Amino acid sequence: MEVVEGNEKMAEQWTPETWRSKPIMQVPEFTDKAALADVENRLSGYPPLVFAGEARLLKSQLADVADGRAFLLQGGDCAESFLEHSPDNIRDFFRVMLQMAVVLTYAAASPVVKVGRIAGQFAKPRSSDTEVQGDVELPSYRGDIINATEFNEAARNPDPERQIAAYRQSAATLNLLRAFAQGGYANLEHVHQWTLGFLGEGPAFEQYKELADRISETLGFMRACGLNSDSVPQLRTTDFFTSHEALLLGFEQALTRVDSTSGDWYATSGHLLWIGDRTRQPDGAHVEFCRGVKNPIGIKCGPSLDSEGLLKLIDILNPENEAGRITLIARYGADKVEGHLPQLVRAVKREGRTVVWSCDPMHGNTVKASNGFKTRPFDLILSEVRRFMSVHRAEGTHAGGVHFEMTGQNVTECTGGARPVTEADLFDRYHTHCDPRLNAGQALELAFLIADGLKRERADSAPDVQTAVAGF
Ligand code: TRP
Ligand code: MN
Repeated sequence: MEVVEGNEKMAEQWTPETWRSKPIMQVPEFTDKAALADVENRLSGYPPLVFAGEARLLKSQLADVADGRAFLLQGGDCAESFLEHSPDNIRDFFRVMLQMAVVLTYAAASPVVKVGRIAGQFAKPRSSDTEVQGDVELPSYRGDIINATEFNEAARNPDPERQIAAYRQSAATLNLLRAFAQGGYANLEHVHQWTLGFLGEGPAFEQYKELADRISETLGFMRACGLNSDSVPQLRTTDFFTSHEALLLGFEQALTRVDSTSGDWYATSGHLLWIGDRTRQPDGAHVEFCRGVKNPIGIKCGPSLDSEGLLKLIDILNPENEAGRITLIARYGADKVEGHLPQLVRAVKREGRTVVWSCDPMHGNTVKASNGFKTRPFDLILSEVRRFMSVHRAEGTHAGGVHFEMTGQNVTECTGGARPVTEADLFDRYHTHCDPRLNAGQALELAFLIADGLKRERADSAPDVQTAVAGF
């Protein structure tokens, strides 16, 4: 006979709007509530941006990552902007993501799951509700889906119509990304040619050239065997997924739909949604919303999250311990990784929870340059990824992925790299609306530099092959 579970064990009823009765952080003050309701109502009648089957495909690919058989590459703008919505921007971003993916696929000898912070990454959490300039106090800028950056009352007043603009921009961006991914632009041989074109002369590029040459040789060998992009469709297409922070819950709710094939609820604003470090209260609105949708969910893990808090979140968000459902995105700062990450990794392992471990080496490494610019030094970013990888090596777990803030443009926002951006260069092309991003060259370089770590993990986890080779 079945034992009837106690009340506290029965999961509370979830609907797309149960988050509304929970405590909520980071909400904009919309003055015109009727206009907001009208926008949400219109959005709820618009077509979904992504489909449930795609979110399930991503989940199954992330399950491979959790299992150590694939690597996650997630990247894109800190915040997308309405003004910079050009096809060139999207193309250049897509191009550098693919270049990185080729390098990482080769180094890890395993598939790379490609996820953009794009086509929906518009809402930003802020440390303060208001900003003061002189004796004027106005609402903080919260991302283009909510208000505008200019410092005047009209611009800063949250405007619900912006959600319609964000929806339309996301649809257009996704349309182009799908075309690029499936229509020939993702051709492996072309992508590798672009990388060869990027690599400059000089000792700084020597180490990258060696790896690039090996990829060239491999492609040549495959071609000689009759495997080319004409004969093998997998060589000219790729799967590309979208993601953003699930912050503006009214918008997310309006795009949450029942999938007709499974009967389950899916957020259709993007394939993967993540919960930010500031909105992950276990009994808060953001966790409540994410609990009920079946998409893959990311959780940002900063220094204030302890093992107990993390396990509680995983319990709420993934009670069935489904592989691919949870991606933990660690963001500590290079010098804090060892102080925080090992206990979380151990707790998750001890409790038998299946997760993807990913490293966001951006948000904990933001510093103020001597000239006042907010920047992120390349070497600190690289150092955080390396420390993340060595923690996983020590714990016997899989360093599953990376999460970068990056752009395909040649901006000067993060310092360092082989074509170094100096602090003085920050004046030149500092275009970000929010946090400093890696430029295209810096992003690709990072892929080359972390390739090493991936190869090492591969060697560790294949002792049979190693011994066989050594014995031979
Ligand atoms: N389809 C494979 C993949 O996505 C191979 C591939 C084709 C690829 N084009 C690519 C890999 C561009 C990386 C980048 O993995
Ligand atoms: Mn950011």
